[in-house]
Parts: sequence; structure tokens; C-alpha cells
Amino acid sequence: MKVLLIGSGGREHALYWKIKQSPLLTEIRVFPGNGGIPFTDLVQESLDLKNLTAVADYVRRESYDLVVVGPEDPLVDGIADALESICPVFGPSRGAAQLEGSKDYSKQFMQKYDIPTAASCTFTDFSAALKYIRSLEPPIVIKTDGLAAGKGVVVAPDLSAAEEGLRDRMERGIFGSAGQKVIIEEFMEGEETSIFALCDGTHAIPFMASQDHKRAFDGDQGPNTGGMGAYLPVPFVNADLMKQVQTEVLDRAMAGMRSEGHPYRGLLYAGLMVKGGRARVVEFNVRFGDPETQALLPLLADSVDLLDLLYKCAVGQLPANARLEFRPGASLVVVVAAEGYPGSYRKEIPLKNIDTAQSDIIFFHAGTRRTSDGSIFSTGGRILGVTALGDDLRAARLKVYETLEKIKTPGVFYRQDIGEKAL
Ligand code: AMP
Ligand code: GLY
Repeated sequence: MKVLLIGSGGREHALYWKIKQSPLLTEIRVFPGNGGIPFTDLVQESLDLKNLTAVADYVRRESYDLVVVGPEDPLVDGIADALESICPVFGPSRGAAQLEGSKDYSKQFMQKYDIPTAASCTFTDFSAALKYIRSLEPPIVIKTDGLAAGKGVVVAPDLSAAEEGLRDRMERGIFGSAGQKVIIEEFMEGEETSIFALCDGTHAIPFMASQDHKRAFDGDQGPNTGGMGAYLPVPFVNADLMKQVQTEVLDRAMAGMRSEGHPYRGLLYAGLMVKGGRARVVEFNVRFGDPETQALLPLLADSVDLLDLLYKCAVGQLPANARLEFRPGASLVVVVAAEGYPGSYRKEIPLKNIDTAQSDIIFFHAGTRRTSDGSIFSTGGRILGVTALGDDLRAARLKVYETLEKIKTPGVFYRQDIGEKAL
């Protein structure tokens, strides 16, 4: 099978790493990729992902058998629709990608199909929104409707912070048109976890649950980021919870999207809040999470042929009894980021000693580039994920942090407390 993988993050490096293990693979090309992908496996021409006609021409010309789309933006723009008549695509159609592309759509969808979530109201008028938040008890949750790179949500501890959040979005326009519509939501208490499922339009096959760390600094302090580290298994997720998520979230989402005329094919990411043994949906995303994927895929059993499953999702033929097998033990990833991230940060930081992967430690590249002499430099805010497997979380964690000590470089930082809560 000849595969095109789209994206440039740690998530895509992890997908590349797992897809490469498939006996079905004959050739893989990644666009735009990063310094972790060998040069020979990168697409050699420059594509414009905003020009879907040109992308479709390229895919046709190169006779790909499957396109795997990593990030949400091209999906929300309709890349799956543009390629539909050319080759199977792992990733939802534009209609289905609204589950992430519009929080208002997503909330209405959950309400319509009885998927447990927080109560919410949507506003496009600033003074109406202001009047509404003044009637609420803090904390107050305000979300921008459109894509905001994981930074569109504010959980305001008091009314003045909520007002600021509202003004930022609706008056100052810090998220552009994405923020003109806001969702004001009931605050949910509990513990967060993410459950991803492979979907073929009818069936949703879950991965083990994982837990992300969204804040930039230790102790869940600082601004929200794309994610600074993740681990699994998550101690509070048991079989009963998985069953509730399957029946009340995943199965209802699959049936609902079919009824809406947007059968869901690809990866469905359910961000969940768990309290009293029950989960409610915080958000849906329409792609693998990053960095969670960098911890999840290495813990899949060797017998799992991810490429085979991605293809079956894309063509709507997952066997109803398919299950994802995992190794025993635990997996943990810590993200190394450039100082300043998620604000402005330095680029071109030289990175050393990150190519020597032992079998149970993996370096997943994110914002990196490799020069012709093999040197590696940072290009992004999140630079690298260091993943280790272990007999348990403690062991995996120890290996990751020992490795991070060895590769320490000025100009970068990472959280010291990934996975600590679970211990
Ligand atoms: P989202 O982008 O929707 O995942 O939101 C980002 C983060 O804000 C989540 O991971 C939660 O920590 C927090 N959050 C979002 N919605 C709520 C809510 N209704 N109640 C409590 N926390 C929330
Ligand atoms: N790590 C959170 C996300 O991928 O949305």
C-alpha cells in the first residue's frame, strides 16, 4: 500500500513510526513532515494544503492507496471530500469535521443525540452574552466557536475574568471570526481523560484512555498549550467507564452522524470529564490527539496492524468485533518545548543526542528540521516528545526523565510532573 501522511507534529511522527511497521506498507510519503522523518520519506514537492485541487492532482498523479490526515485544519477545510473520488482517506468529511470545527455544532449535536455533556448557551451578541454571564455563579467557561489551536477556552474563576474573556473574543477579536460566536458552558468538576476511537462510519473501536497535561507548567499552572505530556493507563478509567463511553458517547455519536448525513470515518477524540464513575464530553476532536498519540501507539501490541485498521476505517469496513490489543504495562511521553511556548519562542535551537532510540525509549520529533549533515534544529514551540514504556507508570516515568536529563539543552523546557498525579 502506498500511503500519504499529512502533518508535521509529534503525532504524525508517531503515526509514521507505527505505520512503518505494517507488512502492508510498500511506500510512505509525509507532507510536510519534520526532522524525525527520513528525507527519502518526505514529499519532495511543495504542496499548498489550502489548495485542495492541487493536492487532489498530486494524489492522483502519485497513485496513493490511502491518505492519512493528521491535523484538524485540512479536515475542516474539506480535504477528505476533495480526495474522495481519488483514493480512500483516513479522516472525516468536512461535514463530519464540524464536530471539532464548530463547538456550537458539536454542542447542538450532543444535545440532539443525548450524549452527556455540560449545559451551554451560544451567543453572537456581546451584550446578551454579558448579561448571561452576570447571572451565573463562577467558575464560568467561555469557548470560541471555531478552531483556535487549543487556546480558545477560558475557565474564568470570577466574573471579571469572564468579562475579560468575553471582551477578548467578541470585542477585541483575538481569535478573529472564530471568536465572534461564543459558547458559555456549565463548569464541570472531575478528572479529565481522553478516549480515541477508530471509526468506519458505523463502528467505533476505542483505544485505551490516556491523560494529557494541557497547562504549560508544573502543577497545572500557566497558560493552556497543545499538550505538554501524556500517559496511560489512567487509573480511574475502568471497564464500567469504558462501557458507558462506548454506549453513551461513541455509539451515539456514530449513529447521530449517520442520521445527520455525515457518517464519521476517521479518528474520533472524546475529551471527557469523569466524576462519580461517569463521563461527560468536554469536547470532540476529529483527529488523533497530540501528545497523547505519542504515548498510545507505542503501547499497542505488535500484532496490531494500524495501517490495516486505518485503511478499513477509510473504506467503511472495520470488522464489528475488531478490538485494539495493548501491551501490559504503561507508556508516558513528556514534551520538550522552546522557552516562551505557548507565547513567542526562539527557533533554531540546536538539538543533540536525540537520535539514539533504545527499544523502549522513542524520540518523536515535532518542531524540528534536519540539515543535510544530519544536525537537528528546532523550528516550533513543541519540539520533541520523549516516550518510554515500562512495567508500570513509575518505571516508564523514570526512564523518560533520566533520558531528558541526558539531552538537556539551553533554550528548552519540559514539565517535571507528567504522570505524577496518577502515582
Ligand atoms: P477544550 O478545548 O474544550 O478541551 O477545553 C480546554 C480545557 O478547558 C479542557 O481540557 C478543560 O480542562 C477545560 N474545560 C473546558 N470545558 C470545561 C467545562 N465545561 N468544565 C470544566 N472545564 C472545562
Ligand atoms: N492534546 C490535546 C489535543 O490534541 O487536542
